[in-house]
Amino acid sequence: MFQRILMLIAALATMPVAAEESAEITLKAPPASLAQWYKPANERQVWLHNMFGLRRSMLAVSDYLALEDRPRLEKWLRRFSERYRKIGEMVPEWREELDLEQLQRLEQAVAGGDLTSAADALHEVGRTCRSCHHENRALVAALMRGPDFSEIQVEDSETLEELPYKKVMQRLPVLVNRLKIADEDGRKTVAFESLEELRQRLADLGQSCESCHRDEVPRERILGGAMHASLDALEQALKAEDHRAVGRHLGELAVNTCARCHGVHRLLSDLRQELLAD
Ligand code: HEC
Ligand code: HEC
Ligand code: HEC
Repeated sequence: MFQRILMLIAALATMPVAAEESAEITLKAPPASLAQWYKPANERQVWLHNMFGLRRSMLAVSDYLALEDRPRLEKWLRRFSERYRKIGEMVPEWREELDLEQLQRLEQAVAGGDLTSAADALHEVGRTCRSCHHENRALVAALMRGPDFSEIQVEDSETLEELPYKKVMQRLPVLVNRLKIADEDGRKTVAFESLEELRQRLADLGQSCESCHRDEVPRERILGGAMHASLDALEQALKAEDHRAVGRHLGELAVNTCARCHGVHRLLSDLRQELLAD
């Protein structure tokens, strides 16, 4: 699925181009063999672990070079070399991204005690980290680790129907806007009904978090105290027919609940879907 070059044709309104032109952004799809190191094929996300191990061992090599501590330097360089070579074994398509000559120069310089030359070679190897990251890191993270909501269902607590996420989402702005319109036009019953349904739909949404999060903290952050405070204040404002306060509390809800959640989940989910679309 990652074989092709992904093209994003983006007509970016903010770009200083003539109206009829559109900017073309070309992204290089990660090699197919990368997927075997990520979930679901690989539970431990071994690619990412190797990367963190690389950063740690690289720091150790750099520190012990500066301290001229040969025994520890040799120990950490062995680990670093092994992990660096592993990149090419795990994803052969990315072998040309590596600089194995500089790695060898580093190993020889350390073995021969030429620490100045070793530091220089380490710096050169470090360039390959940066260049591969520049080209691939963000895209790989979005594609391989971005949240996938396409299979997540939310049970409607009234009808007991299992609904896809998108469908649940499409109902929310209807309720928010209907509430605002009804309040402005003095249709109090409709405004209260919309608020009640909004409360219910947001409560239902809370069941879905545990599909991906093990702890309660994420749910509290988005669907917790702040959200309930806004909904309660909204109810008071509706009762008092204080239209400005209704607007203000709806705004709070939109920022603290909708936008906060979209900032992480929808952004990544949309991007991922966009990139994987045929
Ligand atoms: C051939 C490509 C490639 C090379 C070379 C490479 N990396 Fe990476 N690295 C990646 C990709 C792709 C990711 C993104 C993985 C993800 O987010 O799931 C990554 C992610 C990382 C991360 C995690 C990023 C973060 O902060 O979340 C670290 C740490 C890292 N690399 C360290 C290194 C170091 C140190 C080197 C060089 C010694 C290196 N990498 C060389 C491709 C590469
Ligand atoms: C399909 C998987 C998925 C579902 C379902 C999901 N999340 Fe997340 N969420 C993620 C991912 C991936 C991140 C990115 C950071 C991470 O890995 O924790 C994230 C990050 C977050 C964050 C910011 C980081 C943090 O851990 O504090 C919050 C807050 C959050 N989610 C709340 C929620 C709430 C509330 C729900 C349920 C209404 C929910 N999430 C449902 C995948 C999911
Ligand atoms: C779990 C965190 C979360 C919360 C809270 C949340 N959303 Fe969403 N929203 C999402 C995700 C994820 C998607 C993308 C779903 C998909 O495409 O499968 C989405 C998509 C949407 C969409 C686009 C639907 C479409 O047709 O593609 C709208 C509109 C929307 N949300 C409105 C809202 C409103 C309004 C609120 C607040 C009252 C809200 N959302 C609260 C996570 C959230």
